[in-house]
Amino acid sequence: MNILLVGSGGREHALAWALSASPMLTKLYCAPGNAGIAEVAERVAIPATDFAALVEFARSRRIDFAVIAADAQLVGGLWDAFEAAGIRALGPSKAAAVLEGSKGFVKDLCAEIGIPTAAYRRFREPAAAKTYAESLGLPVVIKADGLAAGKGVIIAATKAESDRAIDFMFEGGFGASGHEVVVEEFMEGEEASFFALSDGRNVIPLAGAQDHKRVGDGDTGPNTGGMGAYSPAPVLTPALEAQAMDVFIRPTVAAFAAKGLSYMGVIYLGLMITNKGPRLVEYNCRFGDPEAQVLMPRLKGDLLTALIAARDGVLSGFDLRWKDEAALTVVMASRGYPGSYEKGHEIVGLDAARSLPGITIFHAGTERQGGKIVAVGGRVLNVTATGRDVGEAQARAYDAVSRIYWDGSFCRKDIGWRALTRS
Ligand code: AMP
Ligand code: GLY
Repeated sequence: MNILLVGSGGREHALAWALSASPMLTKLYCAPGNAGIAEVAERVAIPATDFAALVEFARSRRIDFAVIAADAQLVGGLWDAFEAAGIRALGPSKAAAVLEGSKGFVKDLCAEIGIPTAAYRRFREPAAAKTYAESLGLPVVIKADGLAAGKGVIIAATKAESDRAIDFMFEGGFGASGHEVVVEEFMEGEEASFFALSDGRNVIPLAGAQDHKRVGDGDTGPNTGGMGAYSPAPVLTPALEAQAMDVFIRPTVAAFAAKGLSYMGVIYLGLMITNKGPRLVEYNCRFGDPEAQVLMPRLKGDLLTALIAARDGVLSGFDLRWKDEAALTVVMASRGYPGSYEKGHEIVGLDAARSLPGITIFHAGTERQGGKIVAVGGRVLNVTATGRDVGEAQARAYDAVSRIYWDGSFCRKDIGWRALTRS
């Protein structure tokens, strides 16, 4: 089969790596890809935002199946564009991507079907939002309803911050995504993610993971796309994983179906494990980044077969096996990230690092310039290790990190600390 993967980050490199191992694969293309993805797929110089050109490419190259990795494309309707042209693709559809595309919709759904989550209300103007926020006490959580490149959630520690966040959103700080605002009670606890795959009716569990969203050691500093992750997440006991499926994911897919929304695709469940049990933080309609980088190395079965089975509605009875070993990834980033950073510095030591036991390096912001690999992104590399447990994977990953260098590189030194404190 000819496969087209859309995207260019570390998640996409991990997916390309897993897809490239499929016995069903004839040729893998990735648009636009990065320097690492080029080792397992043919890069196509079409940006992920150019839906018309992607569809035209897929038609002309007889693509049998397209994998759309990112929320912006799914919420923007790229699945619908491929399917309208007769190209099968991993969804969800634009309509079903409301799972990630509208926080208010999901909160209403939780209330309707009894999924545990933080108390909330939806607002279309600032005054009532501020009054409700004050009634919840501090801290309080202010969310833009729509996608905001991972920046649409503000945890306000004071009333002034909460008022400012509400004004910022209604004044267009996040564009149309902030025309509606969700104000939410703050939940205390440990966060974890659980992934599943749905064909619209049948859902199979994938695996759990934890990421580190703050830029600094000890989970301090500004939020990022994720500075590292590991799987499995020891906080997700088998009982909690069963709850993730039975209390959250399966009822959600059934409720979507009852509304005429067939949810086909990956479900990313963000949970807060509170002292009253697990509560929904959010849903995403895709794999996480960097969570995919630790899920793919643990996958025993064939990713491509599973994704096609989801698209074709035949996931029932599908059993995707996972390795018992742990995987941990450390994001190496460019100094300044998540703010502005320099581009174009040469990365050295990649070969030495990846020859170490258990190491796979997934590229994010890299390009090849002549014979060199250069850093061109904020998040640049995902140095990923497998091991008997999170501890061994962590030691291996940091050993590999120590072999890699470019001017201005940095990483967190404590990826995995929660898992290691627990064991
Ligand atoms: P999101 O952009 O939806 O991933 O949210 C970003 C982060 O905000 C989450 O990963 C949580 O750490 C935090 N968050 C969101 N909602 C809540 C809440 N109600 N209580 C506490 N933390 C929250
Ligand atoms: N790592 C968080 C996300 O992909 O949304």
